[in-house]
Amino acid sequence: MSSQQVAWNAQYVEAFRAQYGDHAPLPTYQFPRRRCPAESESWVMWPPQSPHRIIDDLIPPSLDQPPRRLGTGSNGTIYLIGEDLALKETKRTGEYDMMRHARDCSVYPIGRVLELDEGKPKQVGILMEKSAPLYLRRLSFDEATKIAGEMVLLVNKLHAYGVIHGDIRPSHFLRCRDKKLRLCDFEAARLVDENPEDLDNTTYRSGKYYADIRQPPSIDDDWLALTKTIRQLYDVFARGEQILQRPGPSSLD
Ligand SMILES: Nc1ncnc2c1ncn2[C@@H]1O[C@H](COP(=O)(O)OP(=O)(O)OP(=O)(O)O)[C@@H](O)[C@H]1O
Ligand SMILES: [Mg+2]
Repeated sequence: MSSQQVAWNAQYVEAFRAQYGDHAPLPTYQFPRRRCPAESESWVMWPPQSPHRIIDDLIPPSLDQPPRRLGTGSNGTIYLIGEDLALKETKRTGEYDMMRHARDCSVYPIGRVLELDEGKPKQVGILMEKSAPLYLRRLSFDEATKIAGEMVLLVNKLHAYGVIHGDIRPSHFLRCRDKKLRLCDFEAARLVDENPEDLDNTTYRSGKYYADIRQPPSIDDDWLALTKTIRQLYDVFARGEQILQRPGPSSLD
């Protein structure tokens, strides 16, 4: 992918937000989503149609070094692509759908990233806007209080859209380029209306924030996880852990 195309993608994010604001249309998906065979979905075409991408166009195999790493998770690495985009390695196809359902509560999902595996297109990642993590120990008390309020409004809005995040924790709140706080990692997310029996429960969630990680997450579970998240914002002050230097990633959760 040329740097021009990467720049265009970043503008695409801005244009989407400018056009739809808080009222982006819900995409139409077939339900129950996890029983819908991936092959029947239009993104499985090869070569993929925009906004979906081929992995080799984003990370050319000829590169001497892999791109800069933005994060590491249980599914793989999150890479910086160009200056404004992030690529999350994941084969789980439902996460992209959930990000779209979450509309402006999610970091902007640009498209799926595919590769050809034994002649068949497979999802290997999600391309999204690059956002900035919250460095909890670097916040002033007033900033922490402002962020706590933003978190409450964000989770409330997400639920109003009919989406349960299912993995609320400090490292999943990111600050986007337009300065708004949004959520990432919709791997464990579900729709409020989805039948719990249709859900695949093999996703990873933190037991530190969710009491029973074997059950599909509920709205109340998200709220409980948010209270634990907010408590961590303030624990920094209670324990005198605030530092003014940029800390390492371990201070995120
Ligand atoms: N769009 C993004 N921009 C910048 N950083 C990101 C972005 N998406 C994810 N990250 C960083 O990468 C980390 C891991 O991402 P994510 O939680 O989506 O992956 P995961 O595989 O589900 O990880 P885990 O299992 O640890 O939750 C995030 O906590 C965040 O710090
Ligand atoms: Mg995560």
